[in-house]
Parts: sequence; C-alpha cells; structure tokens
Amino acid sequence: MKRVITYGTYDLLHEGHINLLRRAKALGDYLIVGVTNDSFDRERGKLNVRNNVLERVEAVKATGFVDQVIIEDYMGQKIDDILKYDVDIFAIGSDWEGKFDYLKEYCEVVYLPRTEGVSSTMLRAESETIVNIGVVGCGRIAQRFIPETTKVDAVRLAAVYDTSRKAAEAIVEDESLICESFEELVERVDAVYIATPHLAHYDQTKYALMHNRHVLCETPLVLRGDQAQELYELAREKSLVLLEANKTAYCPAFNHLITLIKSGLIGDVVGIDASESKLWGDENLKRELNPNEAGGSLYEMGSYPLLPILKLLGTNHEDINIYSRRNGNGVDVYTRGIVRYHNAIASFQLGLGVKTEGNLIISGTQGYAYVPSPWWKTDYFELRYEDQNRNKKYFYKWDEPGLRYEIQEFVSCIINRRYTSARLTPRESIAMARIMEQYTNKINYFDI
Ligand code: CTP
Repeated sequence: MKRVITYGTYDLLHEGHINLLRRAKALGDYLIVGVTNDSFDRERGKLNVRNNVLERVEAVKATGFVDQVIIEDYMGQKIDDILKYDVDIFAIGSDWEGKFDYLKEYCEVVYLPRTEGVSSTMLRAESETIVNIGVVGCGRIAQRFIPETTKVDAVRLAAVYDTSRKAAEAIVEDESLICESFEELVERVDAVYIATPHLAHYDQTKYALMHNRHVLCETPLVLRGDQAQELYELAREKSLVLLEANKTAYCPAFNHLITLIKSGLIGDVVGIDASESKLWGDENLKRELNPNEAGGSLYEMGSYPLLPILKLLGTNHEDINIYSRRNGNGVDVYTRGIVRYHNAIASFQLGLGVKTEGNLIISGTQGYAYVPSPWWKTDYFELRYEDQNRNKKYFYKWDEPGLRYEIQEFVSCIINRRYTSARLTPRESIAMARIMEQYTNKINYFDI
C-alpha cells in the first residue's frame, strides 16, 4: 500500500485545497493530511487564520479524499511523521517548489500543480471586516501597541487620544488621528484600546461599552470585583467583546504550556510559584509608585503571576494571605501572596524596586514545569521528571513586544462574534479584580 502525506492550514477550505487533496490521494492508496495547530500557526507568524483547528480538520475530512488527519504541532515534525507513518510520498503544492527537497532522504517528494487564482489569504481579504481601533492613553504601552496593530490584517488604527495632546503627537505621525476628547474617539471607532492609568479604566470601559464599542483594556482591568463583574455583564448584554489586555494570556507558548499541563503531563498540579519584578530609575516609576494613582507592585503587575495560578488551579481558592513591604508613601514595593486551595497551594512574588528571580514553577505529582525568567514573555519552557531522560524542552517564537497576540485574539473575537476568550475568561479576570480589592481592603493582609 502506497502511503501519501501532505500538510497545510486549510483555512476557509477552497477549490485549490480540494484539487490538491484529490491529486495527492491519486498518488497512492492512503492519504494522511497534517493540519496545522492554531498555536503552531501563530508561532510561525500566521496570525490571521479564521477557522480554528477543529473547523479546519472537519473541512478537510469532508472532502472525502482523506484517510487520516493528524495535527502538525512543531517545526521538524514532518520527518518524525514520515518515519512514524511509514510514508512513501510527501506531496505539497508547487508554491513550495524546492522547499521540501530535504525530505528526499526519507521518501519521494512530489510538488503538485497549484490551482491558480485562489488562496486562503485572498478569501480572507475579500471577506475582511476591518476593525477600526482607537487608542486611549498615549504612554509607554500605547507606544508599543501602535506598531503591533500593523501585524494583524483585520485591524486599523483609526484614532488616538490623550489628555495631553503632546503625548498623542509623540506617538502618531498622522495628526488627523488625534482626537480632542475621549468621547470623540469613541464616536470615531469600532473598538477601543484603553491604556490609561488603572483608575480611569472603569469609567472609560463602561462609557465605551455603553456606546456599543468593543473594548480591549490594559491589565488590571479594574481593582474591584463588583466593577469587573458589572463590565462583563454589560458587554454580554450588548453582545460586545471585552478583553483584559494581559499579554501573557494570549501568547502561544504560554497557552501551549497550560494545555500540556491540563492534559496531565506533570500529573495533578499541587503547587505554583510565580514571580515578577522590575527595577527602574525613580523618574520612570512616577505613576507606578504614586499612591494616588493606585501605584504599587500588586496593582501594577499582580495580574501576571495570578494568571497561571487562576488558570491551572481555578478561581475557587479557600483564602489568600498577602504580605507587603511598603514605602513611605504607603505603596507596596514588594508583595508576596499565598493562595490556598482545597488540595493545592500557590504563591506569587512581586517587586517594584525590589529585584527577585522572575521564573514560574508548576509542581505536579509526576513532574514539574520550569519556565525561566522572564516567564511572562514565554518562549521556552521545560517539563522535568524524576527520570531525567523524560525531560522535554519546548521552544517557541516570541515576537517583541508581544502585543500582536492579544490584538489578534481581540479582533478574532469581534469578527467571529465570540464574546469571550478562553485565554483569559471573564471569571478569571473578575477573580483578579477581587484579589486586588482584598488587598485594598487589607483583608488577610500583613505588613512586613
Ligand atoms: N494550495 C493549492 N492551490 C491553491 C492554494 C493552496 O494547491 N490555490 C495547496 C498548497 O500548496 C498546500 C495546500 O494547498 O499544499 C494547503 O495550503 P494552505 O497554505 O493551507 O493554503 P493557502 O490557500 O495557500 O493558504 P494561505 O493563503 O493562508 O497561505
């Protein structure tokens, strides 16, 4: 029996794909199709794929030419698959001519004629809904965000606003984008990215939602659980997308780590330790250490270490003890929290003006995950076991500054009318706000 293998994304399955699969099947008796995983596509820079992996697998199966579908997960998998499935022929469209000659060492390589005049990219462009986005608050993060909007096809920067016009002028060349007020910006766009200081988030998010605009709000969304709940309810009632812009939550490597751990690769998770710290010049730390602007390490960075904790151990913790060292203004420059669950324990450590190792360790009954600093920009992690021969290293691509992933998810939610994202659910985001509130109210709180 002659076994043929081919690979692709197969987004918005079209005639070109069908012709290719027919031709590939005709080369032998048994056709295996490798469909790329969503995270693998993101990792190799394909950010605009419309159908998720399950939809793409179903579409490929429905062509009737395919005997077996497998998922393509990582670079270098093709050789493994060819050996594993005892493949005779590797087939691919002629747009890849020459690129897979290195596989000739393992099997026959055939480049099949490509169907002219159609591609997924073309179909995506034809049906493209462009999301016009407005950026509110033109500080450091907005400066990084704006160039990232050009990395996602379906989004266009349509307006910017800052209380200081100078700040707005500093981040865009085209002055016609600058608005005179927040209200004008909301009027001009489909979606708003809120990158103002924390205490402005609630009012601005609420206003934008009330005016039927989708919202991507910088983390922390708000500092009170009831406010977070209210905002998500409002978004749901109005069928709008509200996402908290916690960049780690949307990054491909971090998501893969969570999936691997949830699938039991290190057994039951019993402990999580996550840290993050920053040492900056005092001048830069003005807002971050200002008590009147909700400064301090927990409000500023807490949502990052809380992310793996809440994602893996859930939002129903028994209690949290928080220990902080505060400066003369009462702002925490170092905070540690111990989160107790029914059968697990987690801790987080934050420094703003205190430096600590910034890694993430997830301990399980069969092994542990180690993500080196800076784990919040995950591009590499290891799963480690008692038997070191089983240890495995995972490498990914992280494109600085890493905001394109949250933009892509935000836009994909809007276009596909998916009102929440599994990457950071409303429940997880509300739980983070509740923890901030517990800290504000000094419940189970200890000064050190
Ligand atoms: N293919 C083809 N004819 C087309 C488009 C794709 O024969 N008009 C083939 C590709 O050469 C590949 C397979 O279909 O062997 C899957 O390709 P994929 O990258 O999923 O499809 P594209 O439409 O090229 O996608 P994109 O525009 O996102 O690159």
